Amino acid sequence: MVHIVPSIFAADFLTLGADIQRVVEAGTRMIHLDIMDGHFVPNFTMGTPITEAVRRFTQLKLDHHLMIEDPDTYAPIFIKAGADCVSVHYEVCRNLDRTVHMIKDHGALAGVVINPHTPVFLLENVLAIVDYVLVMSVNPGYGGQIFIPNSLNKVRELARRRSERGLSFSIEIDGGVGPENIADVARAGVDWAVAGSSVFRAPDPVTAIRSMLRTAEEAISVKV
Ligand code: DX5
Ligand code: ZN
Repeated sequence: MVHIVPSIFAADFLTLGADIQRVVEAGTRMIHLDIMDGHFVPNFTMGTPITEAVRRFTQLKLDHHLMIEDPDTYAPIFIKAGADCVSVHYEVCRNLDRTVHMIKDHGALAGVVINPHTPVFLLENVLAIVDYVLVMSVNPGYGGQIFIPNSLNKVRELARRRSERGLSFSIEIDGGVGPENIADVARAGVDWAVAGSSVFRAPDPVTAIRSMLRTAEEAISVKV
């Protein structure tokens, strides 16, 4: 089953509670928080005050995507603030095995993210210890970008390696996901589909989520 994971980066921060309430209404179980430091990516977003405020507001799982240069320092701080899942970029981790274990030791699910230019085979030695792998389907830093189709080949490769090795990590995709590609995303083997603009910039986020879920379910149930 595919879960739609709304990214609050595309929400209205002045009415964040109301926006989150809408996605709860649609049956969402998890929301995505994009943490950017202005170094790893050319943009800033939010710090722990937002995590704490959202944590007080909802019981939804809080999925933190750390687009920052120093995840070893900040992952524990975000977990203390309320993060349930924390993903770190392969491209910045010098001791990835240690970082993954550190996140798990702090009580969160640990994910590893790969940018569009990073191949799946580089994750071979951590697939057995991660809780999820996040495939970037845009270059990180901004919402509302165009989906990069090659990301689906990477998802299929991860799904194949997972089944060959009998592993159980989840596969997440992030960037440019919407009604026009959710069927392909689901068929490729994605478990968690992050959606920012296609949810919060839609006329009605509840309808947008439900409709994408329906399309995804139909896509997986049709055998070709
Ligand atoms: C991009 C972020 C994404 C972004 C997705 O760097 O990691 O999570 O918010 O936004 P959309 O769905 O608009 O591409
Ligand atoms: Zn993200």
